[in-house]
Amino acid sequence: MCGISCILSLANAAQRHSNQQPRNGEHKAAIGAERQKLDKELDASLAQIAHRGPDSCGKWIGEDCRVVRYSGISHLPSLTTTLTQGPQWTNVTPALGHVRLSINDLSPSAAQPFHSPTHGIHAVVNGEFYDYDAIRARLETETQYQFTSRSDSEIIIALYLHYGLNFTEHLRGEFACVLWDERREVFVAVRDRYGIKPLFWTVQDDGHGAGGKRLLVAAEMKAFLPLGWEPEWDVRSLKDAGWNHDTRTLFKGVQKIRPGHYMTCQSFGHVEERPYWDTSFPDKRTIDPRTPQELIEGVRERMLEAVRLRLRADVPIGVYLSGGIDSSVIAGMVSHLVKEQNVSVGSASPTDRVTCFSVAFDEDSGFDESSIANRTAEWLGVKYIKKLMNEEELAKRFEDAVWHCEQHNPDLNFVGKFALSEVPQEAGYKVVLTGEGADEVLAGYPVYLPDYLREPDTAYEAHNPLSEAERQKQLELAEEEAREHYRSIGADAGNSAIGVPRLMLNNISTIDGMTAFQPDVFASWTDTSHAACDPHMVIACNPDGITRHYINSKWHPLHSALYVWSKGNLPNIFLTCLGDRTEMAHSIEARTPFLDHQLTEYVNALPPSVKLRWSPDKRRFVEKWVLREASKPFITQELYERKKHPYSAPTRYPRGGPLWRLMGGLLTREKVEGLGFVGWEKVEGLVGEAFGEEGSPKAMRLALVVAAWVVMAERFGVRTARPEGGLLR
Ligand SMILES: *[C@@H]1O[C@H](CO)[C@@H](O)[C@H](O)[C@H]1NC(C)=O
Ligand SMILES: *[C@@H]1O[C@H](CO)[C@@H](O)[C@H](O)[C@H]1NC(C)=O
Ligand SMILES: *[C@@H]1O[C@H](CO)[C@@H](O)[C@H](O)[C@H]1NC(C)=O
Ligand SMILES: *[C@@H]1O[C@H](CO)[C@@H](O)[C@H](O)[C@H]1NC(C)=O
Repeated sequence: MCGISCILSLANAAQRHSNQQPRNGEHKAAIGAERQKLDKELDASLAQIAHRGPDSCGKWIGEDCRVVRYSGISHLPSLTTTLTQGPQWTNVTPALGHVRLSINDLSPSAAQPFHSPTHGIHAVVNGEFYDYDAIRARLETETQYQFTSRSDSEIIIALYLHYGLNFTEHLRGEFACVLWDERREVFVAVRDRYGIKPLFWTVQDDGHGAGGKRLLVAAEMKAFLPLGWEPEWDVRSLKDAGWNHDTRTLFKGVQKIRPGHYMTCQSFGHVEERPYWDTSFPDKRTIDPRTPQELIEGVRERMLEAVRLRLRADVPIGVYLSGGIDSSVIAGMVSHLVKEQNVSVGSASPTDRVTCFSVAFDEDSGFDESSIANRTAEWLGVKYIKKLMNEEELAKRFEDAVWHCEQHNPDLNFVGKFALSEVPQEAGYKVVLTGEGADEVLAGYPVYLPDYLREPDTAYEAHNPLSEAERQKQLELAEEEAREHYRSIGADAGNSAIGVPRLMLNNISTIDGMTAFQPDVFASWTDTSHAACDPHMVIACNPDGITRHYINSKWHPLHSALYVWSKGNLPNIFLTCLGDRTEMAHSIEARTPFLDHQLTEYVNALPPSVKLRWSPDKRRFVEKWVLREASKPFITQELYERKKHPYSAPTRYPRGGPLWRLMGGLLTREKVEGLGFVGWEKVEGLVGEAFGEEGSPKAMRLALVVAAWVVMAERFGVRTARPEGGLLR
């Protein structure tokens, strides 16, 4: 698990060197200076993300290649402007940078970038490829590729040589990687199937004033700062939640590569993003002939395999353990694999006990789950290390956690996760397993219930305890409960008229939940310039047309809801602020067995009624039912019976305390007005309203969001937003 920062520069050779056949000496000197500049820039860029790879650092700057670039259609608006008529000589210089957290093959031979000098392929990788021994052995016999290390990352070069762009199919795990193919002048950037690892890109002028451009690609946006990136708020993305629902971020011109996509850039003329994998579900009318027991065993077997594959490392591995079923079953399966199958956990010897980590909140806060985690740990016989968190500890970490996330959050859960990753770090661990992803894949959130009930599950009628009359009744109850919930958190959704966006997605109500909280603190000028902002529509437009066709005609609404959530909130909040960014802030690699694609492909093909299941005895729905049953041998009875409580940090805080002081200091008139897009009149009273016994949850959410923007404005040096074109003052 690592960090990458890459630059692909394109300078117009003709303009830079005054004629198309520059004299040699002049050309060389110009190139030498350019390379030195690139080298320095990469160092500074990698220093910004040193937390992702504290063990070593590597760079490679390619030869300045002269290529013929033809004018043509570019998918990138900022590039089309530079395209001129006819063929044109240009210079493309690739530069790849990497900071390393050594996990597999700790020797220097696994240092990156990797090269295949004979083939002119260069690559940097952030992440883990599982099952690489098998892939490697196959490649060695089939292709005679000479590996130079034992690192899992090196397989991408061999795979690319053998399969071309098909190489992505063979990758299993979480990763973001960049590859430069010198001969074909192709730059490839790939992101894993679920977006567990981040990858951002932007295009800038190269600063030589001759129309040269640079494509920047990095694991975190802060890595662009030393490369001359000047962040500006993307007000539209903030207002319509584009940062959460599509490729946009909080900053203008910076995009994320979508999960399951790769980007190619050929001789720089043409930047394209294409999918290589997508979540898919069966036709809701196709009857599933399997018994529930078969399905439970199928899930159990694949989960054990996903966990087992993730126990490979040349360093010790721990487990994040909370009071929930997802992390507990992982801890249970790890213990099982160690005790029953003699599997070693990372570099630990089989006699070492498995170690679990968690944070504990004040017992009387109502949010502390550590007593349940303690009982699980006792039952499994594992080591359990917890760290106590309180308001003061959360307040202390707020600003750093925001800097690492590079976005806002409406609660303090991300600060809790940030603190959690300190625990393994302090204990000398680099790798942990986590339960992230189970709620998305196996239907754990209450927001999905109305969509499960929206249509009968015809695929599994024979095995579904829910009668048709009961379904109708429960749908009404569930919709009423959802409205009640939105009211209680002060959210605006739930009462909204059913509009075009919902009808574009087969009327699923999960999109109301995804947009329930909108920070309505925007300055009034944004109402004119960004009048068309509609987060519902942004969500409805995010899937491509073919997928919308499946949603409307083929998939059960529960599955459509899982799809939509897994393209928005999962990669852009859960795997970001409650995942990679707060973990890597402390150089912790978290592995997510629930997002193993061989497991999820199996689970996606299961009928909705084994994910959310009506229990006639308890007269309630059991969420993640098939997971619960599959987990039974590995968890305590207490957890098997427990209803879902999502992980959460406390939400009420007193006046006069550390958080109250922190918010008061951040939400001053000067700082808030410095953002430019926030109306001071909407923020002025927030701190007063948010804190205390009677504190308003909505005011607290808004205060936390605006405070995060203030922190980002300061740390990133973001310019004050102004109405575009200056026409609307
Ligand atoms: C690439 O994938 C396609 C579709 O799966 C397959 O038909 C083709 O043979 C593959 N090519 C290589 C080089 O693996
Ligand atoms: C477990 O592993 C140890 C050391 O690798 C080996 O000596 C032992 O025979 C193994 N036991 C079983 C049951 O596989
Ligand atoms: C669980 O809590 C008890 C009481 O605080 C403590 O003695 C015990 O060591 C804890 N167990 C684990 C596994 O940490
Ligand atoms: C969409 O669902 C709502 C309930 O959430 C229902 O009232 C409405 O009639 C549905 N609209 C269509 C067109 O199915």
